[in-house]
Amino acid sequence: MPAILWLWCLFSQLLNPKMAQSVTILSIGPARALDSLIQDYAYRAFILPRTGIPYDGTVPSNLTGIQISAMRLRTGSLRSRGVQRYKEFEIPRGVMEDSYVERLVLVYQDLGNLSTKYYVLPGYTYIAPVLGLLAYDAANLSATNLPELNIKATGSPILIHFRDVKSAPAGSSPRCVWIDLNGWVNFSSPVSGNTCSTVGQGHFSIVMDSIAPSPAPDSPSPGPASAGEGEGGTAAIPRPVIMEKSEGNKKAWIIVGSVVGGLALFMVFAFLTLWTQKLKQRQKMQQMERSAEVGEALHMASIGIGKAPVAMVTRTRPVLETEYAT
Ligand SMILES: *[C@@H]1O[C@H](CO)[C@@H](O)[C@H](O)[C@H]1NC(C)=O
Ligand SMILES: *[C@@H]1O[C@H](CO)[C@@H](O)[C@H](O)[C@H]1NC(C)=O
Ligand SMILES: *[C@@H]1O[C@H](CO)[C@@H](O)[C@H](O)[C@H]1NC(C)=O
Ligand SMILES: *[C@@H]1O[C@H](CO)[C@@H](O)[C@H](O)[C@H]1NC(C)=O
Repeated sequence: MPAILWLWCLFSQLLNPKMAQSVTILSIGPARALDSLIQDYAYRAFILPRTGIPYDGTVPSNLTGIQISAMRLRTGSLRSRGVQRYKEFEIPRGVMEDSYVERLVLVYQDLGNLSTKYYVLPGYTYIAPVLGLLAYDAANLSATNLPELNIKATGSPILIHFRDVKSAPAGSSPRCVWIDLNGWVNFSSPVSGNTCSTVGQGHFSIVMDSIAPSPAPDSPSPGPASAGEGEGGTAAIPRPVIMEKSEGNKKAWIIVGSVVGGLALFMVFAFLTLWTQKLKQRQKMQQMERSAEVGEALHMASIGIGKAPVAMVTRTRPVLETEYAT
């Protein structure tokens, strides 16, 4: 039964067009490589680090413009106390990490003028730099290529108080954007002014619709116009859709594959259910037949014991009938 429920959920989600439309998946391969590089460089800032203190790191010269920092924490203290302020982030108590490491490192990233290079969001213009908050195991501070831990805010959400936010033009409403480590994009309204909230790690910024929100790719004139408007030119998004086709196709294929796989699974499951039902039915029938046979045998036996009287009754019948007739 749970399998059927699960399949039903999967189907209803996939078949809901609104849902499908609101899901944006970015191709973030280069950005993930950058995360890994930043983890390495952020850890280098630690030399006998104290817990709960942010240590700013330095990036290689080819990444000038990005600011990084690292803070080591006891997992228990993160959960029970949170971090009042870590750069733009306000981390409430109740943030849990689900692989039970003793200490973790929160790596902070401010991608500055490289935000739009690593996180291209077609149709939107950044009005704040992309900030990152990622959690890693602190067991080995010289480790590289560490996988991220999974942290979740189980109570109040984590707040991000953005600085350096450009004012959005009148009539356009700024939106918070959260890009998780798989490239899933989640938009939400600011909780207030320049403050956004999140329940998980990833990358965050504030965006507004580009001047031409229509997805028409062959009207490039509004693109450069909006690019020119981005004060300092840091927040403009290049018009070409960089979400790589192959990645997109791959994701589409994964979805198609899972639908087909789900259907096949469902059919196998339905077949099995039917088959077991049939089997049960047949077993029941056989059982009934058998018990009927047994019953018959018993009946015969009981009749056998009183065979004589039964026979007599039937034999008397014609006598009675003839009496009636006369
Ligand atoms: C930047 O430089 C570092 C260290 O020299 C190198 O590992 C990294 O691949 C470079 N990254 C880019 C994006 O060029
Ligand atoms: C980003 O800004 C830094 C200075 O803050 C500058 O050195 C660097 O060249 C800029 N990078 C790009 C790609 O504009
Ligand atoms: C820490 O990681 C580095 C780099 O991967 C490795 O060389 C070293 O042996 C590790 N140390 C421990 C104690 O695991
Ligand atoms: C998107 O963000 C909102 C607010 O943080 C959260 O409630 C919601 O679950 C998120 N949705 C997804 C699909 O991550």
